[in-house]
Amino acid sequence: MAHEITLIPGDGIGPEVTGAVTRILDASGVSIHWDRHDAGAVAAERTGKTLPDALLASIRERKVALKGPVTTPIGKGFTSVNVGLRKALDLFANLRPVVNLPGVSTRFQNVDLVIVRENTEDLYSGLEHVVVPGVVESLKIITAEASTRIAEFAFQYARRHGRSRVTAIHKANIMKLGDGLFLDSVRTVAARYPEIRFDDRIIDAVCMHLVLKPEQFDVLVLPNLYGDIVSDLCAGLVGGLGVVPGANIGTDCAVFEAVHGTAPDIAGQDVANPTALLLSALLMLVHIGESDAAARIRAALHTVLAEGTATRDLGGTASTTTFADAIVRHLDA
Ligand code: NAI
Repeated sequence: MAHEITLIPGDGIGPEVTGAVTRILDASGVSIHWDRHDAGAVAAERTGKTLPDALLASIRERKVALKGPVTTPIGKGFTSVNVGLRKALDLFANLRPVVNLPGVSTRFQNVDLVIVRENTEDLYSGLEHVVVPGVVESLKIITAEASTRIAEFAFQYARRHGRSRVTAIHKANIMKLGDGLFLDSVRTVAARYPEIRFDDRIIDAVCMHLVLKPEQFDVLVLPNLYGDIVSDLCAGLVGGLGVVPGANIGTDCAVFEAVHGTAPDIAGQDVANPTALLLSALLMLVHIGESDAAARIRAALHTVLAEGTATRDLGGTASTTTFADAIVRHLDA
């Protein structure tokens, strides 16, 4: 039986990288039926909505989507497609594994950490108002419910993937109530996972330690804003946005996507790096129970990178197509 998965090719380099990735998945032998939908600017032109109802219905029914980057039209009335998807499908956990890849030279080696970011509240609640001219109040919402839910996700992830330590990141020394509640919630959950080591760090200190000795970290669990910032910082540790996967996961549905944007400066030139989306697709394969295929594709990707085949962003000369071809050849071998 083919897996039923929603595919959002996206804008800019989106169709190029999703095309490369679906070709590689196909070559691995996994049977997937893709239900294609537009989102963002293209969808808005056709349907008046950046997130058409048919797209949301497709993901709700199939439970899993692979998404390329999309452009959110600038102007009133259009909320970000990504924020919209997270809200509509309650994708409360943002997952970003950060690991060194062979052949991708960076300042650090042996980085192998996982960021678990709370996706629904904190300063992203959008609750802001002008108190008096010149004074704005932005509300940082932290609830025990969302903090407990993300902590459970982080510990479950650690248990399932053989990770030994979870670190909660916060600023509870200053935001004693808000970040204090987040920390207390994670601590309470940690007590239910005695086999997993738990500790906590202050956000500013952890940033310094991440750029000094990132290999010391395992699973990090963070509220929304710190998670947003730290996950890009960590992408930089292993080669940048072109090589880091992501997933937004809820109780019912999961959307797998690279963290980079539509790269309009290189769109249509067949030079985009499909690695980040491919790694996101590997998270997806594990999610749907196709771990063997994920492992084979990962091995082929590592071989190709180690041989020195790389796209322009990584200093190579391979096009999107020839990079994907090389991976397909290794899968066939
Ligand atoms: P961007 O990530 O698209 O590009 C930043 C730089 O990284 C550019 O120089 C680009 O060429 C390069 N780059 C990005 N991905 C690459 C890849 N796979 N291979 C090689 N080089 C790559 O960020 P930017 O320019 O800030 O945003 C452009 C558009 O993307 C905006 O419309 C924004 O709204 C959208 N966007 C969408 C996201 C999503 O759908 N998840 C996330 C971020 C931005």
